[in-house]
Amino acid sequence: MTWLITGGAGYIGAHVVHAMAEAGERTVVYDDLSSGIPDRVPDGVPLVVGSVLDGERVARALTDHEVTGVVHLAAKKQVAESVERPLHYYRENVEGLRALLEAVTATGSASSFVFSSSAAVYGTPSTGAGLVTEDTPCLPMSPYGETKLAGEWMVRATGRATGLSTASLRYFNVAGAARPELADTGVSNLVPMVFEKLTANEPPRVFGDDYPTPDGTCVRDYIHVVDLAEAHVAAARALRAAPGRDLTLNIGRGEGVSVRGMIDRINALTGHDLAPTVAPRRPGDPANVVASADRAAAELGWKARHGVDDMITSAWAGWRRLHPGA
Ligand SMILES: NC(=O)c1ccc[n+]([C@@H]2O[C@H](COP(=O)([O-])OP(=O)(O)OC[C@H]3O[C@@H](n4cnc5c(N)ncnc54)[C@H](O)[C@@H]3O)[C@@H](O)[C@H]2O)c1
Repeated sequence: MTWLITGGAGYIGAHVVHAMAEAGERTVVYDDLSSGIPDRVPDGVPLVVGSVLDGERVARALTDHEVTGVVHLAAKKQVAESVERPLHYYRENVEGLRALLEAVTATGSASSFVFSSSAAVYGTPSTGAGLVTEDTPCLPMSPYGETKLAGEWMVRATGRATGLSTASLRYFNVAGAARPELADTGVSNLVPMVFEKLTANEPPRVFGDDYPTPDGTCVRDYIHVVDLAEAHVAAARALRAAPGRDLTLNIGRGEGVSVRGMIDRINALTGHDLAPTVAPRRPGDPANVVASADRAAAELGWKARHGVDDMITSAWAGWRRLHPGA
């Protein structure tokens, strides 16, 4: 079986490609390199440069490489940018997925489809404790979250209409790296944002410390990218083993860590001691969102193995590779 990995030159996609290769699965990367890095693609894995919006190019890649399954990670992912440029996000994430699914169904070679969704589909959960199951109502608070929820609907509807086996994986807060050269190069998530401040010898910022949480800062569920990549391998195998499946799964650890708690661990593990300053709350930040990971365990036999210390130390090694003075 050959898997087309869209966005396979990106941070998470490259980890998925490496995990698939280690599991003995054949892959082809399809990426427009808008934020991807070709060097992340392992030797021996073909890289097709193109946009998922280009249906003809996708169809050619599917037939040229005799693709039998797709893992779709290619997307724009910045919440704040999606608020400023909603149509760009709808085009890239929704129209891009539609064009891809059209090529997949028209060529008819692929029987399995794994889609990168996000905890952003939940918005502020109505459950008081913040623990969300896949049945918790989805009320996204940004165009980014909306594009992911619309994507889930499109994937599920296509599966029902065509028999394509599908899985939507709702990633929680992704951090860490399998090795330094695969690390996230962006600074849109908490861990690299704190690294950036510490490297400049400035205090990291906490956005709001008056939330109804134990230390007043937001609580999130952090997941190591290596565990997340393994969840993709498990999902790909589950779809292959049982055609006609329709899975929606949280991919998290089921454990909340506060922003202040993360900053304390980052300071301790990187040899810094910079107390955070408190900035105003950011609009749209839910107080507490933690995954119930029970369904992924039941459906995939998958469970996260790495804790936040592993995420921080591996991400720091990647950061120092790019910022040798840090
Ligand atoms: N990083 C996170 O914390 C997080 C959390 C939840 C969900 N996700 C989702 O995971 C996926 C991967 O995110 P990432 O963190 O690796 O981001 P990334 O920006 O590192 O990777 C995205 C990849 O997709 C490629 N790409 C973008 N638009 C494309 C297009 N139109 N055609 C072809 N390729 C295109 C980029 O070049 C890049 O290689 C995204 O779908 C994102 O929404 C990420």
